[in-house]
Amino acid sequence: MIQAIRGTKDILPDTIDYWSYLEATAKAVSESFAYKEIRTPIFEKTEVFSRGVGEGTDIVNKEMYSFTDRGGESITLRPEKTAAIVRALVQSSLYQQQPTTRLWYFAPFFRYERPQKGRLRQFHQYGAECVSSPYPESDVEIISLAVAYCKALGIDDYKLLINTLGNEKSRADYKEVLIAYLLENKDKLSGDSQSRLEQNPLRVLDSKAEQDKAVVENAPNIIDSLDEESKAHFDQVISSLKAMGINFTLQPRLVRGLDYYSHTVFEFQHSSLGSQDSFGGGGRYNALFSQLGGKETPAVGFAMGVERLLIILEALGKLPPMEPIAEYYVLAADSKYIDKAFEVSSALRSKGKKVLTDLVRRSFKAQMRDAGKSNVSYVVIIAEDELSRDSLLVKNMSNSEQNEIKITEFIESL
Ligand code: HAM
Repeated sequence: MIQAIRGTKDILPDTIDYWSYLEATAKAVSESFAYKEIRTPIFEKTEVFSRGVGEGTDIVNKEMYSFTDRGGESITLRPEKTAAIVRALVQSSLYQQQPTTRLWYFAPFFRYERPQKGRLRQFHQYGAECVSSPYPESDVEIISLAVAYCKALGIDDYKLLINTLGNEKSRADYKEVLIAYLLENKDKLSGDSQSRLEQNPLRVLDSKAEQDKAVVENAPNIIDSLDEESKAHFDQVISSLKAMGINFTLQPRLVRGLDYYSHTVFEFQHSSLGSQDSFGGGGRYNALFSQLGGKETPAVGFAMGVERLLIILEALGKLPPMEPIAEYYVLAADSKYIDKAFEVSSALRSKGKKVLTDLVRRSFKAQMRDAGKSNVSYVVIIAEDELSRDSLLVKNMSNSEQNEIKITEFIESL
């Protein structure tokens, strides 16, 4: 038997309704904030991500599905969408025509990670990007959109962590202070962190290694390195979130695993996820457009992992009930009435009804059993007696009531 690739999952009909629900809710909530959907190719030139997400990140260094295509070009299955969207906007010049471009997506992504609960090699994200405003209002809009999605799904016991990385100058100042501190404590750090220390010191702050945690705990705080502009931006984000009644926790060690962030960064965590407790995250990325060859353009966005949302909803008992596959079961009591069954089914479908019929010539009884198992609301029975009077029998499955009705009348009544 050929197995699916490790870390990938088939979404079979027994769970597809959950996926449809998450996507329909994403669409409804996004549209309520006036966001429009964007779809980009599933693969991109590798440089979109190596330059966009950053050469020093785990995603680019260890997790990308990259290959050389037949034309000799290095191609990568997208590990995330933000860099790809920026590439698309720069290419189409769309973002230059409007004061703000608001976009959402619900799509598959690929990262070569070690699979475990909530961590796959092909996974899905719902995300949104708000492009062109440098002001804290758009950070707040993006965070409140993410919060609105959680609320619409009935997830309210999450933790929202927030931090700022400041502007470029503040970050450079902070990196200097941080490197000096980490160098003093180099012996106590893990091998990974020692090698990251100078190239990407911020990443040491979210190291999961126990021995790093003690060092990180006493590390200098970025808040102390912020200049006036960075501080004012963050203060406004905080005060607007408070005004909107959005609960959050300030987390000065939160840096996130992608290089493109500046100013506000945030992450959503939920206790049901175990060690992979983060189910969403995002932040501002003011330098990404120019890094990918566009005009300097401020932007902010977030993404949430769909598989992780499903784990949370299951733990909370908030998965939606599965939709019955059909409302009507058209039952031909004998194979002689197949054509009549087709005619009635077509008429029902043309009225917008979902209709199920038997395709394997089951007996009357077996079809009734099938109708019961399929959870339909009505069984429409086509049988000799009724047909001789141009009628059929309609059985209401919720109370077992059965009524004879003229075929024409039945169709008209729908
Ligand atoms: P990210 O934090 O890398 O951010 O991913 C966002 C979410 O995707 C994670 O919180 C997690 O729920 C889910 N996720 C990531 N990797 C996996 C995996 N291997 N298996 C299952 N779920 C996973 C980004 O991707 C940024 N593009 C977010 C963003 C948008 N920032 C600004 N705009």
